[in-house]
Amino acid sequence: MALHGRHLLGIEELSGDDIKLILTTSRSFREIFTRAIKKVPTLRGKTVINLFFEPSTRTRSSFEIAAKRLSADTINFNVSSSSIVKGESLIDTGRNLQSMAPDIIVVRHTDAGAPHLLARCCKGLSIVNAGDGMHEHPTQALLDALTILDHKNKIGGLKVAIIGDIAHSRVARSNALLLKKLGAEVWICGPPTLIPLEIRQYGVQVTFQMKEALEDADIIMMLRTQKERQKEVFYPSVKEYSILYGLNKQKMKWAKKTAIVMHPGPINRGVEIDPELAEGEYSVILEQVTNGVAVRMAVLYLLLGASEEMEA
Ligand code: CP
Repeated sequence: MALHGRHLLGIEELSGDDIKLILTTSRSFREIFTRAIKKVPTLRGKTVINLFFEPSTRTRSSFEIAAKRLSADTINFNVSSSSIVKGESLIDTGRNLQSMAPDIIVVRHTDAGAPHLLARCCKGLSIVNAGDGMHEHPTQALLDALTILDHKNKIGGLKVAIIGDIAHSRVARSNALLLKKLGAEVWICGPPTLIPLEIRQYGVQVTFQMKEALEDADIIMMLRTQKERQKEVFYPSVKEYSILYGLNKQKMKWAKKTAIVMHPGPINRGVEIDPELAEGEYSVILEQVTNGVAVRMAVLYLLLGASEEMEA
């Protein structure tokens, strides 16, 4: 089914063909990055609003850069200086923004389901989920998939280890969904207190032992311990967490020699990943960031600009 006119709320709603279309389109957009003038007129006259209720470095900047490279007008809505601080609700905020006729609202929110609520309330535009609570972060999983394809030329059949604070991670959920849709073998690993039982419904393998997750892994995705979302104590100390679940050179020996190391950022250096590995030969972390721009260009283009004929 064409993506034109739809919302992007989660990987759950995308078919394997939708995902492949976004990835193929992302690859074609990367050529623009090499030009002296990194801009095409594709979305001229379209308006994209970034509505971020949570901090962001990578996602917000890359959505803005993506929109600008496609010649769309972008508005970075500043929540802290908006009428939200006077108590205006998310629905009223969305409806008022909708009245100004933007084409896309990109939303990040602390609460799971906030983009879905906006999608129900705001008609005549597309809503893109840039991370909702502990639920989904679909464009992160898409840019991760593009990075994996760049290095492995396939996703089906690869062993992918996702390690860390799974319970609070929307990145883990979106990646588990996407990778399973494309046929990868997904291993989830972390302390038992940080692995929710419901993660098994995605058809993933679960282990509390890093050795089992890393053995013969093609892809290692390290996740940040999300202190800001942790309302209880989930492990005795950061030092113990790092010893058991931090990635270092010794543990890398369990993985395939050709394994790549990924991290969505921001990184807690020395906690979930040794600084040497965050920047070493295995790391593709900054490539993920570059691919974020390409994937977000593809998403904006496919939701707004591409006709079904062009997609075909
Ligand atoms: N990966 C990610 O979502 O990073 P930001 O929080 O900086 O956007």
